[in-house]
Amino acid sequence: MMNRCATLTALTGALLLSACNAPGGGNSNTMAAAPAETDLRGARIGGPFTLTDQDGKARSWAEFSGQYRIVYFGYTYCPDVCPLDLQRVAQGLKLFEKKAPERAAKVQPIFISVDPERDTPETIKIYVAAFHPRLIGLTGTPDQIAAVAKQFVTVYTKERPKSAGVYIVNHTRTPGLFAPDGAPLIMLPVDDIRTSQAEGTPQEIADALDRWVK
Ligand code: NI
Repeated sequence: MMNRCATLTALTGALLLSACNAPGGGNSNTMAAAPAETDLRGARIGGPFTLTDQDGKARSWAEFSGQYRIVYFGYTYCPDVCPLDLQRVAQGLKLFEKKAPERAAKVQPIFISVDPERDTPETIKIYVAAFHPRLIGLTGTPDQIAAVAKQFVTVYTKERPKSAGVYIVNHTRTPGLFAPDGAPLIMLPVDDIRTSQAEGTPQEIADALDRWVK
């Protein structure tokens, strides 16, 4: 997984390198006091889209105006990283909901599939329900997904199928937090899979939300 991560980040530059290589990874003693999240303010990430949710309804980026949004790209067949990241984001949001229910209610978590061929609304519906009751799962046509991924600076590549319908989709890990006006704020911390320590814990995610959601 590390090599896949490195390959994809090489394509997209320093921004995603920091996403894959979350602070706290090799230098945790000296960086213990630093926030675990990456500041994304001013970056060109995000933009209008219309996709289809887990109930088959059209959903647009504009309709979340006024809400903070956590946007995570992945796919339901992902064997390792997506379920881990989504579980931690969901647990972090739940911790924040306990601490500050009114502010947490302003945060809409959104999952966007990078595997639209297999991720039908029906498949996504079962998947998102396993993580958080308010998690919205979006899919679309391959062209729609390609356009949205580009807007959100997310890279994904489908590997050659091992057999019909059995394949891996490599993708960058980008749990971005967006402001009520749709502008990017931060990249939430994720686990550095090269270390044995846990980075991007639910508590770190909750703390980051607490710092940024007003
Ligand atoms: Ni994944």
